[in-house]
This record gives sequence, C-alpha cells and structure tokens, in this order.
Amino acid sequence: MFKPSPRKLGHLVLTVRDIHASANFYTEIVGLTVSDWIDERMVFLRAGTDHHDLALAQLREGAPSDASQGGPGLEHFSYRIDSFEEMEKVVKHLQDNDVTIDRGPGKHGPGENCFLVFKDPDGNNVEFYCDMLEITEEKPYEAKVWKDGAETFDVWGFEKFAVPPPAHFRKPTSPPSGGRGRPPKVDG
Ligand SMILES: [Fe+2]
Repeated sequence: MFKPSPRKLGHLVLTVRDIHASANFYTEIVGLTVSDWIDERMVFLRAGTDHHDLALAQLREGAPSDASQGGPGLEHFSYRIDSFEEMEKVVKHLQDNDVTIDRGPGKHGPGENCFLVFKDPDGNNVEFYCDMLEITEEKPYEAKVWKDGAETFDVWGFEKFAVPPPAHFRKPTSPPSGGRGRPPKVDG
C-alpha cells in the first residue's frame, strides 16, 4: 500500500491581527529575514535556506480574538515530500482514506512550491509541499511584493486541483452582497 514519505517538518502559517507589527516582531525581535510579501496580506519569512519556514497572514478586520473561532493562530503546518509525482499519489491516497482535501494540488508564486492541504481528524490543516525555492549565498534572492490574486496563489490556475478552488477565488454567480469584510485569504 502506498504511504507518503515526508522528509522534514517545513513551514507553518500563522494568522495575525496586524501583519506589519508581526512582521516587525519576527524580523527585529526573532531575527528572521523577509523573503516576499503578497500586498499587505501575507509575508514570507525564513531562518534557513527554504524560501519560507514561517508565513504570516493578515486576519480580516473584526476577527475574533480566539484562535478556535477563527482568530489569530495556526492556519497550517507542512511536511516536505520529494516530488510532484509523489503529491499526485498522495491525492489518491487521501481520497481512498476519506481524508478531506482543503486545497490543491497547486503551485504557489512566492516560494514556487507545490502544495496540497488536507484536514487531520480534528480539522487542523496539514500540508505536503515540494520543490520550494532555496535561497543561499550562492543563489541570493531579492524580496518583492506579489499581487494578491489567484495567479499568485496558484500559478497553474487551479488546473490540477482535486477540489473546487477556495471560495474567495471562485467567480461570483450573483452580485456581491456588500457584507462586512472578506474572509481571511490564506495560502502560502
Ligand atoms: Fe504552506
């Protein structure tokens, strides 16, 4: 029977109330380096050679303070696997075992990594990723600001997704209701 071969614990993504305050904290107090931004909605940080080992995502205005209610906290954590070929096998493996796939497979703009996010029995988001950009002294990288949108989230345009794209990337079928704020849009 197929079983994935996770190689190491990779990055995690935290939702935060004030992305600039948190980015400042993780660079100036913790000592991480900024790899990229997506507008003012996400920032990718690194301690080692992976493009990101921590990413921060801005919560919407008025989000609850309790992590269990959608407030600041862990959005997902991830394990590295060796190849996209393995990721495609993992999709079938998850489906065969009735595991809920949250998003993917796809390929992010920032970090260039392929991603597949699924739910553990308690609803935590677990990700497998592969092919992440490595940043070294020999291969330096200049941080940039990506445009927030579907092309940044999945450069493949959801072509390889095993589930429908996240709601905020779907084309609206009726005019927007004008409700207060958008849900947090989290990827990375
Ligand atoms: Fe991720």
